[in-house]
Amino acid sequence: MQVCAQCGRGNPEGARFCNACAAPLAAEAPVEVRKTVTVLFCDLVGSTTLGDRTDPELLRELMARYHAELRTILERHGGTVEKFVGDAAMAVFGIPHVHEDDALRAVRAADEIRAAVERLGLEARIGVNTGEVVAGNGETLVTGDAVNVAARLEQAANAGELLVGEGTHALVRDAVRADPVEALALKGKPEPVPAYRVLELLPDIPAFARTIEAAFVGRDDELESLERTLARAIDERSPQLATIVGPPGIGKSRLARELIQRTQARVLVGRCLSYGEGITYWPLSEIVSQLGDVQAVLRADEDAKLAASRIAAAVGTAETAASSEEIAWGFRKLFEALAREQPLIVVLDDIHWAEPTLLDLIEYISTFAEDAPLLLLCIARPDLFELRPAWATPKASTTLLTLEPLPEQETGILVDELSDVSDETKARIVEAAEGNPLFVEQLLAMQTEVGDGELEIPLTIQALLAGRIDRLGPEERSVIERASIEGRLFHRGSVAELLPEQARAGVGGHLMTLVRKDFIRPGRSQLPGDDGFRFGHILIRDAAYDSLPKRLRAQLHERFASWLESKLGNETPDEILGYHVEQAFRYRVELGTEDAHARELARRAGSLLAAAGRRAHARGDDGGARLLLERATRLLPEAHPELPSLLALLGTSTYEGGDAPSALETLQRAQAAAAAAGQRGVELRARMDELAILRGTSPGQEAAAALAEAEAAIVELEQLDDAESLARVWRAVMEIGFLRSDYGLVGEASSRLLECARRAGIRREEVWAVRGLAAALTYGPSPVEDAIVRVEQALADFPQERAGEDHLALLYAFAGRYEDAERAMGRSRRVRIELGQEIDHAGLSLDLAWIALLAGQPERAEPELRAAAEVLERAGEVGLLSSVAALLADVLYRLGREEEAGEWTRWSERATPPEDVGAQASWRTIRAKVLARRGEAEEALRLSAEGVEWIRRSDHLQAIGDCLSDQAEVLRLLGRDDEARPVLEEALAVYERKGIVPSIERTRTLLAEIKA
Ligand SMILES: Nc1ncnc2c1ncn2[C@@H]1O[C@H](COP(=O)(O)OP(=O)(O)OP(=O)(O)O)[C@@H](O)[C@H]1O
Ligand SMILES: [Mg+2]
Repeated sequence: MQVCAQCGRGNPEGARFCNACAAPLAAEAPVEVRKTVTVLFCDLVGSTTLGDRTDPELLRELMARYHAELRTILERHGGTVEKFVGDAAMAVFGIPHVHEDDALRAVRAADEIRAAVERLGLEARIGVNTGEVVAGNGETLVTGDAVNVAARLEQAANAGELLVGEGTHALVRDAVRADPVEALALKGKPEPVPAYRVLELLPDIPAFARTIEAAFVGRDDELESLERTLARAIDERSPQLATIVGPPGIGKSRLARELIQRTQARVLVGRCLSYGEGITYWPLSEIVSQLGDVQAVLRADEDAKLAASRIAAAVGTAETAASSEEIAWGFRKLFEALAREQPLIVVLDDIHWAEPTLLDLIEYISTFAEDAPLLLLCIARPDLFELRPAWATPKASTTLLTLEPLPEQETGILVDELSDVSDETKARIVEAAEGNPLFVEQLLAMQTEVGDGELEIPLTIQALLAGRIDRLGPEERSVIERASIEGRLFHRGSVAELLPEQARAGVGGHLMTLVRKDFIRPGRSQLPGDDGFRFGHILIRDAAYDSLPKRLRAQLHERFASWLESKLGNETPDEILGYHVEQAFRYRVELGTEDAHARELARRAGSLLAAAGRRAHARGDDGGARLLLERATRLLPEAHPELPSLLALLGTSTYEGGDAPSALETLQRAQAAAAAAGQRGVELRARMDELAILRGTSPGQEAAAALAEAEAAIVELEQLDDAESLARVWRAVMEIGFLRSDYGLVGEASSRLLECARRAGIRREEVWAVRGLAAALTYGPSPVEDAIVRVEQALADFPQERAGEDHLALLYAFAGRYEDAERAMGRSRRVRIELGQEIDHAGLSLDLAWIALLAGQPERAEPELRAAAEVLERAGEVGLLSSVAALLADVLYRLGREEEAGEWTRWSERATPPEDVGAQASWRTIRAKVLARRGEAEEALRLSAEGVEWIRRSDHLQAIGDCLSDQAEVLRLLGRDDEARPVLEEALAVYERKGIVPSIERTRTLLAEIKA
């Protein structure tokens, strides 16, 4: 049997292609990887005319020199020459290994080529572009759109010009001066491709500047530890070696810089370069150049001359030669001499790029330097330990400082320091950066460029992480890639399962190496008998995942799904299983293989996500339900029997999530699909939802007609014995009861709803029913004490959903139990927020405001009502908005802000549906109060009388009492106490009938005032 290197499946001997994934089964079939590389195209200008004029022998020689020169330059910068075609050349940076600075390397090479070609008396056109390609692992041949764009850029360049694409520009922008040029039209691309002309390359600038803009945040312990180490070097006059280790961007160099700023010691800094010729002693020559005359520094030493000549040999200022030991000795003398004058810190940054010779030198000096207050401060990424596993092993004079991510709160401070983005964006950045300050900076920079929205991962960070992953050995790499399939958290078992059979045995060792290299960390296992891990950073997981070819992703997701199912059986969460099957399908579609198997995957994923969506909806998790159901309905085929009911459910969740227009669209689709499938119950259900939304969003819909439609539907559905649909229709009736402030109707409909919902086993509808009952008990004629007992009982059956607790809160306030009211309201709100029920949450503001008014604290109600009004307006939910606006008007009136109060009554008037009895009454009586204050007697009297007339149609006792009180206030403001008295007495009687204690007391006081 031969095992496929691509997917791990066994295949019969002699087969040429894998039966499972169709990859070629050559002994060492190349494994493909996706990676972001930088491609360079270069061509000579007018070389044909050159051929006309030049002797062929000369020409041949010239071309040979050109080719050789080109190759040398490209290779010096780490590029791979992919091909020469005549005078044109193509090179790739990122093959076989990606570097974080590939783009800059390519641009540097291009710049040198430009100059070299000029020296040959020729001119070149160069195009450079960065983008995703597919490459054989370890091979050079790359394919992808990025290559075509690079070629096109080269063709578009003028003689002697270097054009770079957008990606390249983003990656090198701090190191070049460049102008945008007109975007290039490209075959097969709908949009023109942006391009930049590079005018100048700035020397010695890293690809993207790490500007020190933000004040330094946190790291107190680390600084203190470094300061202690320095103090020890000074006290004991002996060298100390401290090494700061951590992943890219975590803040190592910045920490060193902070230490330098706080110290009196002399500081010399050298940085190792990631590539280049003769770079072994580069950091030391940087140091020497900070000193000026070395000989003068060494003057006091007897070996001065010798030391100086060895140093000169190392940094290339003299032609003399010296062995590495001799050079090390020379620098030891130099540092000793300097430190004896004044305590000295030598910073060596990025020593993970150091040549072994330099590391030896550092260790030698730290061990042998004598009588010298010297701190050798080294900075490295964890890769250092691959080079030198024993670096900084514990010794008296050696310190290792590992930098961990900044805590969340400090990351937040950093974001604030750097820019002022919205709280939402800030939270997203803090979350995505996970305590890495460089990621914070780059994410913020990206944000200001593209504006608020989905966070994208900046190219700079992608390049950094891809570079780290690309440096892993092939086996570790295939382990980390497979791990990325499960997600941020993964298990050893799944990785082993996804690896080709022959690679499984080594998985444990490779995982431990990855832990040591700080890519992953041990995590909590969620599967019995397995080990859990987590990626050190979500972006590392994403980078590993991105490097997998899509065809392989498709296979691995599918295999993961089967594996998970085999582990957990029926316990496997539908969401998770559905997600992996969905991904398997999606990548197949992206690659154009929508065959029978793909269709089967879609159906399976759709059913799984549908089940998860239904459960989320039943829990009341509308936000979650919407996302799951959207995916499910997109996956299932048009003719699937479940589709109509899923669409109906999606419509409901969408509306509850606060998006009325798209909810309506979905519900109409649901009705059409249900009608086509002959599912009458589903069709009626969706229609009821549609009517409910229309009532809420476009005033003028006739509640009477809707009620008639509902009644007809009830007759039809009772015959069909469709309890689920019946429940929905009864809910519609209940909603019409609300609209008319007819709590008798609400009470009846909600008890029928409860019965149907129980029969159909739909907890969500039961919750609605209980809330309806609670509302009927709260607002209808039942006395408060009695209502409290009954609502508390009903609530006990739904401890999770806390059904009707907001109404209970109001009942407590009616009874004067404010503390109980606050507590109940707090719980109720938390549940709504958690479940993403925006509209419902806005609805709570009404009860909340009434409670505040009963407690005599109108100022507390204002912000709540304003926030609710905003949500409702955004959602297009004018029905509820009219009540909120009216109540806000009342609150403002009581706060003495009549102008604004009048404004909001006009708002309410505009938004009030014609049959919304409560809102019709209250905007009128509240406007009447405002007018009465202004002395507009006639209009005030008319409106208050109309308002009272409206509210008398309802059985909402509190509202009746309040409208009467408003009318009485109007009369009193107009100096008609005599007429006010009977109105107030009636209000008192209504309050007493219900048992609203605070209102009873207030009304009694008012009556006493009038009598006095
Ligand atoms: N504690 C901090 N407070 C404020 N800004 C910070 C802090 N730490 C780091 N930064 C900023 O984050 C960016 C990255 O930090 P730094 O360059 O020190 O990372 P590094 O660990 O040296 O990364 P590399 O390994 O890539 O060199 C810099 O712009 C730095 O100024
Ligand atoms: Mg650094």
